[in-house]
Amino acid sequence: MALTGVQHANEEENLTFNLHRERGLSYSYLYLFQEFWCPGAAIQGLINFQKHFQAKDSDVIVASFPKTGTTWLIALSFAIVNRQHFSIENHPLLTSNPHKLVRSLEFKIFCDDVHDPILHLSKMTEPRHFSTHTPLTSLPMSIIESSCRIIYICRNPFDTFVSAWTYFNKIRPRFLALEEAFEMYCNGISSFGPWWSHMLGYWKESIARPNKVLFLKYEDLKEDVNFHVKSIAEFLGCPFTKEEESDGMIESIMKLCSFEKMKALEVNMYEKLDTVIDNKFFFRKAEIGDWVNYFSPSMIQKLSKIIEEKLSGSGLSFKMHS
Ligand code: A3P
Repeated sequence: MALTGVQHANEEENLTFNLHRERGLSYSYLYLFQEFWCPGAAIQGLINFQKHFQAKDSDVIVASFPKTGTTWLIALSFAIVNRQHFSIENHPLLTSNPHKLVRSLEFKIFCDDVHDPILHLSKMTEPRHFSTHTPLTSLPMSIIESSCRIIYICRNPFDTFVSAWTYFNKIRPRFLALEEAFEMYCNGISSFGPWWSHMLGYWKESIARPNKVLFLKYEDLKEDVNFHVKSIAEFLGCPFTKEEESDGMIESIMKLCSFEKMKALEVNMYEKLDTVIDNKFFFRKAEIGDWVNYFSPSMIQKLSKIIEEKLSGSGLSFKMHS
C-alpha cells in the first residue's frame, strides 16, 4: 500500500532519528547514511531497494551523481535498447519524460510511487531498465554479483555544481545562496555526495570490471554522441547492424534524445514528474563551461584544489570547457 504524506513523514522521522543530518545542497535535510549524504525522502526507498531488489542478468541500470546528464543517458539507453519495439515517429520519448520510462529505484519504484514493488518488478518486460543515484558501495549485492550492466555518467565538478545549485533552488522551500551552496558542495554535503567518492567508486569498478560498468563523461558524450551511442549499444549486447547504421538509426536516436528536441516537447515543457518536480527542471542549458558565469576566482581556486586532492592518482580527469 502506498503511504500517505503524513505516514511517509513519520516513517522518515523514525528511520532518520539516529542519523547525523545536515543542511546540504539538496531540497531537504541530508542524512549521513552508509557513509554518504542521503536525502531524507530516499532513505526508506533505498532500504527497501537494498533489501528486496533481485537483479536479473539482463537488467540495465543507469547510475549517476545528480545533475550530470542522467536524463540524457536514460533517454539514449532507452531508445537504444528498445529500438526494435518503437518507431522514431511514434516513440514514447515524444510523449513521456525519460524519468517516467526509466524509473528511479530508490525514489520511485521502492518509494511511494508503486503499490507493490515486487509485483511491479516481476511484471516488467526484459530487459528491465532502471536509474539510480545510489553510490556503488550501497547497491544491493545482487546488482554487483549478477551479470546485469551498469552505465554510469558523470560530469566535470564545476558544471555539476552550477546545474545542481540552479536545480535545487527551483524545488527547495528556501533559496540557497551561491556561496553557501558552494561550501556545502566543497564539503561533500550534497545529495548522494560526496561527489568525489560517488564518481571514484564507479570509476574504479569500471576499470576492474569493464564488462560490468561503462563509465561515461557528459563532456565526451557531447563531443561525439554517435560514437557513444554505438559503444552503449555494444556494451549492452545489442550492437547496431550494418543495415541499421546505413538506415540512419544512430542519427535518429541522437536527434530524438537531443537537448533541443527533448526540451521543446510539450510533455517536458508543461507536465510534472511528481508534486515537486516539473519536467522542465531537467532541461536548462546543457552546456559545457557554463560555470564560468558563476565562479569567482577564489571559487575556481578552491574547487580546482579539491579536484586535485581527491582525484589525483585515479586517472580520472575532466574537460572544463567546450
Ligand atoms: P544544465 O543544468 O547544465 O543545463 P540530470 O539529468 O542528471 O538531472 O542532469 C541535468 C543536466 O543535463 C542539465 O544541465 C540539463 O540541461 C542537461 N540535459 C538534460 N537533457 C539533456 C539532453 N538531452 N542532452 C544534453 N544535456 C541534457
